[in-house]
Amino acid sequence: MKIKAFAPGKIILFGEHSVVHKKPAIAVAINRGVHVELTSRNDNIVQVTVPIIDYSAELELVDKKLNFKLDSQKKIITDYIYEVINLFEFDKGFNLTVNIEMYLGAGLGSSAAVSVATLKAVSIYAGFDLDKKTIAHKAREIEIKIQGAASPIDTSMSTYGGIIFIDENFELSRINFDMQLPLIVSNCEISGNTGKLVESVRIKYEKYPKIIGNIFTAMEQIATDAKKALEKGDSKKIGHLMNINQGLLDAIGVNTVELSDMVYEARKYGSLGSKLTGSGGGGCIIAYCPENSDEVYEQLSKKYATFKCEQSDYGVQAKLID
Ligand code: PMV
Repeated sequence: MKIKAFAPGKIILFGEHSVVHKKPAIAVAINRGVHVELTSRNDNIVQVTVPIIDYSAELELVDKKLNFKLDSQKKIITDYIYEVINLFEFDKGFNLTVNIEMYLGAGLGSSAAVSVATLKAVSIYAGFDLDKKTIAHKAREIEIKIQGAASPIDTSMSTYGGIIFIDENFELSRINFDMQLPLIVSNCEISGNTGKLVESVRIKYEKYPKIIGNIFTAMEQIATDAKKALEKGDSKKIGHLMNINQGLLDAIGVNTVELSDMVYEARKYGSLGSKLTGSGGGGCIIAYCPENSDEVYEQLSKKYATFKCEQSDYGVQAKLID
C-alpha cells in the first residue's frame, strides 16, 4: 500500500506585522509545498526520511505506538513529523519520505505543510478519514506544542489552500480570484527571528504611537484595497499596493539591505510589485510577475535561491495507490 499526500506552503501577500495589531492581511497558498510518501511495511519499524536535511531514522512501534520522546530544546522539522505519527496507533510499520520543496525557516510555512501533509497520509494509513477542520486543528495544536505559539494562518493555508483574507478578528475568508497569480520567491538565506521582529515593531509603536499607528492604518487600507483589486483581477493595482506595502514595512524597521536588493532587482527586470513576505529581517521576498517572469527569475537566481510559483487553489490532498 502506498499513500501520497501534498500540502501547500504559503506566502503573506499583504499585512504582515500590521495583522499582529488587529489589521487585515492576505495570505496565499502556493503550489510548492511538502510531498509525503508512505509505503506500508510488514514489520513494526517506522522509517522516516527527510532528504532536504539528510535525515533518515528507524524507530520501533511498541504496543502500536511509536517509541519517541520530543526533545523540547530543539525545534526541528522532524519533531513535527513524530508528533503527528504519535497521534495514531498502527498495526504495522511504514516508510515515510517527506520531500520539502521550499526553504525551511523562511516564512513559507514549511513546518505547517509538513504537519498537514504527514497528518493526511498517516491518518489514512491508521484507518481514519479526517475532515479538513480536524486536520487544521490538529496541525495547529502540534505547532503550538512545539513552537509555544502559532497563529492559525500557516496550518489553515496548508489545509484549505486558496487566497485568504484575514480580518481584524482573525476570521479567515476566501477571496474569489480566478486568474493565475505568478510569483517569484527569492530567499536571502539569512533567517529573521519572528518573535524579536514582532517585539521590535511593538516597541516602535509604543515610542511613536501616532506615526506607527498611521502606518498600520495605511497597511489596513492596502489589504482592503488589495482584496478588491484581486477580486477584479486588477494586476497593476496589486503590484502598486505591494510596492507601497514594502515601503511601509521598511518604515517600521523590518526590511534589510539584502531584502531591498532583491526587491529592487525584481522591479528592475519587470516585476509589477515586489515586497518582503513574512516577518522580514531576512528570509524571502515575493515578486509579482504577470509579465517578464522568466527575466526576473533568471536575474534573481544569479544571486539568490529562487523559485517560481502560483497560488494553489487546493489545500491538502492525498492519493491512495494499490
Ligand atoms: O514569517 P512568518 O510567515 O511566520 O510571518 C510572520 C508574520 C507576522 O505578521 C510578522 C507575525 C504574525 O504572527 O502574524
